[in-house]
Amino acid sequence: MSTDNLHTPAERLIEVRGLGKMFTLHNQGGIRLPVLRAIDFDAARGECLVLSGRSGTGKSTLLRCLYGNYLATEGTIRLRDTSAEGAPWVELTQAPEQRILHLRRHVIGYVSQFLRAIPRVSALDVVADPLQQRGTSHEEARARAAVLLERLNLPRRLWDLPPATFSGGEQQRVNIARGLIGGHPILLLDEPTASLDADNRAVVIDLIREALAEGRALIGIFHDEAVRDAVATRLLPLQPATAIA
Ligand SMILES: Nc1ncnc2c1ncn2[C@@H]1O[C@H](COP(=O)(O)OP(=O)(O)OP(=O)(O)O)[C@@H](O)[C@H]1O
Ligand SMILES: [Mg+2]
Repeated sequence: MSTDNLHTPAERLIEVRGLGKMFTLHNQGGIRLPVLRAIDFDAARGECLVLSGRSGTGKSTLLRCLYGNYLATEGTIRLRDTSAEGAPWVELTQAPEQRILHLRRHVIGYVSQFLRAIPRVSALDVVADPLQQRGTSHEEARARAAVLLERLNLPRRLWDLPPATFSGGEQQRVNIARGLIGGHPILLLDEPTASLDADNRAVVIDLIREALAEGRALIGIFHDEAVRDAVATRLLPLQPATAIA
Protein backbone atom coordinates (compact mmCIF):
# COMPACT_ATOMS: atom_id res chain seq x y z
CA MET A 1 0.00 0.00 0.00
CA SER A 2 1.13 3.56 -0.52
CA THR A 3 2.80 5.53 2.21
CA ASP A 4 0.47 8.48 1.79
CA ASN A 5 -0.62 10.05 4.99
CA LEU A 6 -4.36 9.48 4.79
CA HIS A 7 -5.48 10.29 8.29
CA THR A 8 -6.36 13.98 8.35
CA PRO A 9 -9.88 14.20 6.87
CA ALA A 10 -10.10 18.01 6.66
CA GLU A 11 -6.88 18.49 4.75
CA ARG A 12 -7.41 20.21 1.41
CA LEU A 13 -5.77 18.44 -1.50
CA ILE A 14 -6.81 20.65 -4.39
CA GLU A 15 -7.53 24.34 -4.74
CA VAL A 16 -8.86 25.92 -7.94
CA ARG A 17 -9.15 29.70 -8.38
CA GLY A 18 -10.49 31.71 -11.29
CA LEU A 19 -10.02 28.81 -13.69
CA GLY A 20 -10.85 29.51 -17.31
CA LYS A 21 -10.47 27.50 -20.48
CA MET A 22 -10.86 28.87 -23.97
CA PHE A 23 -10.31 26.70 -27.03
CA THR A 24 -8.88 28.30 -30.15
CA LEU A 25 -10.01 26.44 -33.25
CA HIS A 26 -6.99 26.93 -35.51
CA ASN A 27 -8.44 25.01 -38.43
CA GLN A 28 -11.58 27.17 -38.37
CA GLY A 29 -10.11 30.62 -38.78
CA GLY A 30 -8.97 30.84 -35.15
CA ILE A 31 -12.50 30.96 -33.70
CA ARG A 32 -12.29 31.22 -29.92
CA LEU A 33 -14.62 29.05 -27.89
CA PRO A 34 -14.90 29.96 -24.20
CA VAL A 35 -15.85 26.87 -22.17
CA LEU A 36 -14.89 27.37 -18.53
CA ARG A 37 -14.87 30.71 -16.77
CA ALA A 38 -14.22 31.80 -13.19
CA ILE A 39 -14.31 28.35 -11.63
CA ASP A 40 -13.45 28.31 -7.91
CA PHE A 41 -13.49 25.33 -5.58
CA ASP A 42 -11.50 23.30 -3.08
CA ALA A 43 -11.66 19.61 -2.33
CA ALA A 44 -10.46 17.99 0.87
CA ARG A 45 -9.83 14.43 1.97
CA GLY A 46 -13.05 12.47 2.24
CA GLU A 47 -14.98 14.77 -0.09
CA CYS A 48 -16.71 13.76 -3.30
CA LEU A 49 -17.35 16.83 -5.40
CA VAL A 50 -19.78 16.15 -8.23
CA LEU A 51 -19.74 18.34 -11.35
CA SER A 52 -23.19 18.98 -12.75
CA GLY A 53 -24.54 20.94 -15.68
CA ARG A 54 -25.94 20.36 -19.13
CA SER A 55 -24.08 18.54 -21.86
CA GLY A 56 -21.34 20.76 -23.27
CA THR A 57 -20.89 22.98 -20.20
CA GLY A 58 -17.31 21.78 -19.83
CA LYS A 59 -17.42 19.07 -17.15
CA SER A 60 -15.00 16.75 -18.96
CA THR A 61 -12.88 19.74 -19.96
CA LEU A 62 -12.56 20.70 -16.29
CA LEU A 63 -11.39 17.19 -15.35
CA ARG A 64 -8.84 17.27 -18.18
CA CYS A 65 -7.52 20.62 -16.91
CA LEU A 66 -7.19 19.17 -13.40
CA TYR A 67 -5.27 16.20 -14.79
CA GLY A 68 -2.94 18.47 -16.75
CA ASN A 69 -4.19 17.22 -20.12
CA TYR A 70 -5.53 20.64 -21.09
CA LEU A 71 -3.68 23.78 -20.12
CA ALA A 72 -5.98 26.27 -18.41
CA THR A 73 -6.06 29.65 -20.14
CA GLU A 74 -6.53 31.55 -16.89
CA GLY A 75 -6.52 30.98 -13.16
CA THR A 76 -4.67 28.53 -10.94
CA ILE A 77 -4.91 24.84 -10.04
CA ARG A 78 -2.96 23.86 -6.94
CA LEU A 79 -2.51 20.25 -5.81
CA ARG A 80 -0.81 18.95 -2.72
CA ASP A 81 2.06 16.67 -3.58
CA THR A 82 1.34 14.12 -0.86
CA SER A 83 4.27 12.00 -2.03
CA ALA A 84 6.77 14.68 -0.95
CA GLU A 85 7.95 15.61 2.54
CA GLY A 86 5.50 18.17 4.02
CA ALA A 87 3.02 17.68 1.15
CA PRO A 88 3.85 21.00 -0.59
CA TRP A 89 1.38 22.70 -2.92
CA VAL A 90 2.22 22.45 -6.62
CA GLU A 91 0.84 24.91 -9.17
CA LEU A 92 -0.22 22.60 -11.98
CA THR A 93 -0.51 25.28 -14.66
CA GLN A 94 3.19 26.15 -14.15
CA ALA A 95 4.50 22.63 -13.55
CA PRO A 96 7.00 21.10 -15.97
CA GLU A 97 5.99 17.88 -17.75
CA GLN A 98 8.13 15.68 -15.46
CA ARG A 99 6.40 17.04 -12.37
CA ILE A 100 2.98 16.42 -13.92
CA LEU A 101 3.96 12.81 -14.71
CA HIS A 102 5.14 12.38 -11.11
CA LEU A 103 1.83 13.77 -9.80
CA ARG A 104 -0.11 11.38 -12.06
CA ARG A 105 1.85 8.44 -10.74
CA HIS A 106 1.54 9.29 -7.04
CA VAL A 107 -1.12 11.94 -6.42
CA ILE A 108 -3.85 12.28 -9.04
CA GLY A 109 -5.66 9.47 -10.83
CA TYR A 110 -8.16 9.73 -13.67
CA VAL A 111 -10.86 7.35 -14.82
CA SER A 112 -11.76 8.46 -18.33
CA GLN A 113 -15.15 7.59 -19.76
CA PHE A 114 -13.62 5.04 -22.12
CA LEU A 115 -10.75 2.67 -21.51
CA ARG A 116 -7.70 3.33 -23.64
CA ALA A 117 -6.95 -0.31 -24.40
CA ILE A 118 -3.30 -1.23 -24.72
CA PRO A 119 -2.78 -3.95 -27.36
CA ARG A 120 -1.68 -7.38 -26.08
CA VAL A 121 -1.81 -6.43 -22.38
CA SER A 122 -4.18 -8.59 -20.33
CA ALA A 123 -7.01 -7.06 -18.28
CA LEU A 124 -5.27 -8.16 -15.07
CA ASP A 125 -2.04 -6.39 -16.05
CA VAL A 126 -3.88 -3.29 -17.28
CA VAL A 127 -5.39 -3.00 -13.79
CA ALA A 128 -2.18 -3.92 -11.93
CA ASP A 129 -0.03 -1.42 -13.84
CA PRO A 130 -0.62 1.80 -11.81
CA LEU A 131 0.21 -0.04 -8.58
CA GLN A 132 3.37 -1.50 -10.09
CA GLN A 133 4.35 1.97 -11.25
CA ARG A 134 4.20 3.04 -7.61
CA GLY A 135 6.69 0.38 -6.60
CA THR A 136 4.50 -2.63 -5.70
CA SER A 137 5.79 -6.00 -6.95
CA HIS A 138 4.27 -7.60 -10.03
CA GLU A 139 2.74 -10.49 -8.04
CA GLU A 140 1.29 -8.28 -5.31
CA ALA A 141 -0.14 -5.82 -7.86
CA ARG A 142 -1.76 -8.68 -9.82
CA ALA A 143 -3.21 -10.13 -6.62
CA ARG A 144 -4.75 -6.77 -5.74
CA ALA A 145 -6.04 -6.39 -9.29
CA ALA A 146 -7.70 -9.79 -9.04
CA VAL A 147 -9.51 -8.76 -5.85
CA LEU A 148 -10.90 -5.66 -7.57
CA LEU A 149 -11.93 -7.48 -10.75
CA GLU A 150 -13.64 -10.13 -8.62
CA ARG A 151 -15.58 -7.46 -6.74
CA LEU A 152 -16.55 -5.84 -10.02
CA ASN A 153 -17.83 -9.21 -11.31
CA LEU A 154 -15.55 -9.37 -14.31
CA PRO A 155 -15.67 -13.03 -15.39
CA ARG A 156 -12.38 -14.83 -14.69
CA ARG A 157 -12.15 -16.10 -18.24
CA LEU A 158 -11.53 -12.47 -19.32
CA TRP A 159 -8.73 -11.68 -16.88
CA ASP A 160 -5.91 -12.92 -19.13
CA LEU A 161 -7.31 -11.38 -22.30
CA PRO A 162 -6.61 -7.85 -23.62
CA PRO A 163 -9.72 -5.68 -23.00
CA ALA A 164 -9.92 -4.33 -26.59
CA THR A 165 -12.73 -6.76 -27.50
CA PHE A 166 -14.62 -6.53 -24.18
CA SER A 167 -18.15 -5.10 -24.01
CA GLY A 168 -18.59 -1.45 -22.99
CA GLY A 169 -19.53 -2.39 -19.43
CA GLU A 170 -16.64 -4.87 -19.11
CA GLN A 171 -14.16 -2.27 -20.33
CA GLN A 172 -15.61 0.27 -17.96
CA ARG A 173 -15.09 -2.06 -15.01
CA VAL A 174 -11.46 -2.65 -16.01
CA ASN A 175 -11.07 1.13 -16.27
CA ILE A 176 -12.56 1.72 -12.80
CA ALA A 177 -10.37 -0.97 -11.24
CA ARG A 178 -7.31 0.59 -12.90
CA GLY A 179 -8.28 4.03 -11.55
CA LEU A 180 -8.92 2.87 -8.01
CA ILE A 181 -6.04 0.44 -7.50
CA GLY A 182 -3.23 3.01 -7.31
CA GLY A 183 -4.61 4.60 -4.14
CA HIS A 184 -4.09 8.11 -5.51
CA PRO A 185 -5.20 10.70 -2.92
CA ILE A 186 -7.05 12.67 -5.64
CA LEU A 187 -9.21 10.78 -8.12
CA LEU A 188 -11.07 12.18 -11.12
CA LEU A 189 -14.00 10.16 -12.49
CA ASP A 190 -15.71 10.89 -15.80
CA GLU A 191 -19.05 9.03 -15.83
CA PRO A 192 -17.60 5.80 -14.47
CA THR A 193 -20.98 4.06 -14.23
CA ALA A 194 -22.57 5.05 -17.56
CA SER A 195 -22.39 1.54 -19.09
CA LEU A 196 -22.97 -0.52 -15.94
CA ASP A 197 -25.95 -2.56 -14.81
CA ALA A 198 -27.56 -1.94 -11.42
CA ASP A 199 -25.53 -4.60 -9.57
CA ASN A 200 -22.22 -3.27 -10.80
CA ARG A 201 -23.28 0.32 -10.17
CA ALA A 202 -23.85 -0.68 -6.55
CA VAL A 203 -20.34 -2.18 -6.38
CA VAL A 204 -18.87 1.06 -7.74
CA ILE A 205 -20.81 3.07 -5.15
CA ASP A 206 -19.30 0.87 -2.41
CA LEU A 207 -15.79 1.25 -3.85
CA ILE A 208 -16.19 5.03 -4.04
CA ARG A 209 -17.40 5.21 -0.45
CA GLU A 210 -14.43 3.11 0.66
CA ALA A 211 -12.07 5.47 -1.17
CA LEU A 212 -13.67 8.43 0.64
CA ALA A 213 -13.40 6.66 4.00
CA GLU A 214 -9.67 6.17 3.30
CA GLY A 215 -9.37 9.95 3.03
CA ARG A 216 -9.14 10.34 -0.70
CA ALA A 217 -10.71 13.33 -2.49
CA LEU A 218 -12.89 12.55 -5.50
CA ILE A 219 -14.11 14.86 -8.24
CA GLY A 220 -16.56 13.22 -10.58
CA ILE A 221 -19.27 13.41 -13.19
CA PHE A 222 -22.23 11.08 -12.63
CA HIS A 223 -25.23 11.30 -14.91
CA ASP A 224 -27.06 8.65 -12.93
CA GLU A 225 -28.91 10.55 -10.18
CA ALA A 226 -29.02 7.58 -7.83
CA VAL A 227 -25.23 7.20 -8.01
CA ARG A 228 -24.77 10.94 -7.57
CA ASP A 229 -26.99 11.02 -4.49
CA ALA A 230 -25.21 8.01 -3.03
CA VAL A 231 -21.68 9.44 -3.30
CA ALA A 232 -21.77 13.26 -3.55
CA THR A 233 -20.74 15.29 -0.55
CA ARG A 234 -21.04 18.51 -2.59
CA LEU A 235 -22.24 19.63 -6.03
CA LEU A 236 -20.41 22.03 -8.30
CA PRO A 237 -22.88 23.25 -10.94
CA LEU A 238 -21.25 24.48 -14.16
CA GLN A 239 -22.91 27.15 -16.31
CA PRO A 240 -22.30 27.72 -20.02
CA ALA A 241 -19.31 30.12 -20.01
CA THR A 242 -20.86 32.42 -22.62
CA ALA A 243 -23.85 33.02 -20.32
CA ILE A 244 -21.66 34.53 -17.62
CA ALA A 245 -21.48 38.33 -17.71
N1 LIG B 1 -10.11 19.73 -27.59
C1 LIG B 1 -11.15 20.53 -27.86
N2 LIG B 1 -11.12 21.43 -28.87
C2 LIG B 1 -12.17 22.23 -29.11
N3 LIG B 1 -13.29 22.25 -28.40
C3 LIG B 1 -13.39 21.38 -27.38
C4 LIG B 1 -12.33 20.47 -27.05
N4 LIG B 1 -12.72 19.73 -25.98
C5 LIG B 1 -13.95 20.15 -25.67
N5 LIG B 1 -14.35 21.13 -26.50
C6 LIG B 1 -15.64 21.83 -26.47
O1 LIG B 1 -15.87 22.26 -25.13
C7 LIG B 1 -17.24 22.16 -24.80
C8 LIG B 1 -17.38 21.36 -23.52
O2 LIG B 1 -17.06 19.99 -23.77
P1 LIG B 1 -17.03 18.93 -22.61
O3 LIG B 1 -16.70 17.63 -23.23
O4 LIG B 1 -16.15 19.42 -21.51
O5 LIG B 1 -18.55 18.98 -22.11
P2 LIG B 1 -19.30 18.10 -21.00
O6 LIG B 1 -19.89 19.04 -20.02
O7 LIG B 1 -18.35 17.07 -20.47
O8 LIG B 1 -20.45 17.44 -21.85
P3 LIG B 1 -21.13 15.96 -21.75
O9 LIG B 1 -22.08 16.02 -20.56
O10 LIG B 1 -21.87 15.85 -23.05
O11 LIG B 1 -20.03 14.96 -21.60
C9 LIG B 1 -17.94 21.54 -25.99
O12 LIG B 1 -18.59 22.55 -26.70
C10 LIG B 1 -16.81 20.93 -26.80
O13 LIG B 1 -17.09 20.94 -28.15
MG1 LIG C 1 -18.27 14.97 -20.65
